[in-house]
Amino acid sequence: MKSFIAASALIALASANATPTGPFTIGAWNPTTAWYGTGINANGGGFYIGKSPSSYCPTGITGLNCTLYPGASTVLVTGGTAPNMTVSLDVAVPGGQQVFVAPNGALSYTPPHSTFAPTGSIFDGFDRFISNAGGGPTPLYFESNNFGACPVTGESGVYQVFARAVASSETLGNCTVFEMRTYTADGVVAWEY
Ligand SMILES: *[C@@H]1O[C@H](CO)[C@@H](O)[C@H](O)[C@H]1NC(C)=O
Ligand SMILES: *[C@@H]1O[C@H](CO)[C@@H](O)[C@H](O)[C@H]1NC(C)=O
Ligand SMILES: *[C@@H]1O[C@H](CO)[C@@H](O)[C@H](O)[C@H]1NC(C)=O
Repeated sequence: MKSFIAASALIALASANATPTGPFTIGAWNPTTAWYGTGINANGGGFYIGKSPSSYCPTGITGLNCTLYPGASTVLVTGGTAPNMTVSLDVAVPGGQQVFVAPNGALSYTPPHSTFAPTGSIFDGFDRFISNAGGGPTPLYFESNNFGACPVTGESGVYQVFARAVASSETLGNCTVFEMRTYTADGVVAWEY
């Protein structure tokens, strides 16, 4: 009986710390700037606050029903095993679209039909986990660190996302540090981004 209790206690502990799975959207969390999950979208190979997703569905392809891919949000999935995971965009385009951190620290993703990434880009080292913070949020970290939102010159209210583990202090100079939080999503909403 004693060992039975010990075993079930272990199972409860394991499930409390289980790695969250399935598709998710991402948002910026920083109470000092009143970002409580402010949406982050994939656009033109980078990730931004204050931009819509650059989702696209090609017309005129037999059998491809773009009504199924409205692309209004940015949905991602993890691969591999925590705490060293990969991340990709949850897309329908053959070949998928992989997320990576570019050598300058920019959180980035591969174009459709391509595996292109700058030399020195990092594809692993992501971790999505259940936090002990109030509400038990599920943040996404890169190399045990969070992210910076850097103002985009000439675009008011637009910030590009950089990984603090890689970006230089010069790059991060004017940026707002935030925790990347993830929110459960239903699944694929875009053909490609
Ligand atoms: C496309 O998908 C929508 C939504 O499921 C559906 O209502 C529509 O009939 C589909 N169109 C075709 C041509 O299959
Ligand atoms: C993370 O996983 C990749 C393979 O996906 C591996 O090459 C790399 O060495 C791992 N890094 C660590 C720190 O375990
Ligand atoms: C930070 O902002 C200052 C003042 O607007 C500007 O001169 C500087 O170039 C900016 N630095 C970066 C890295 O963007």
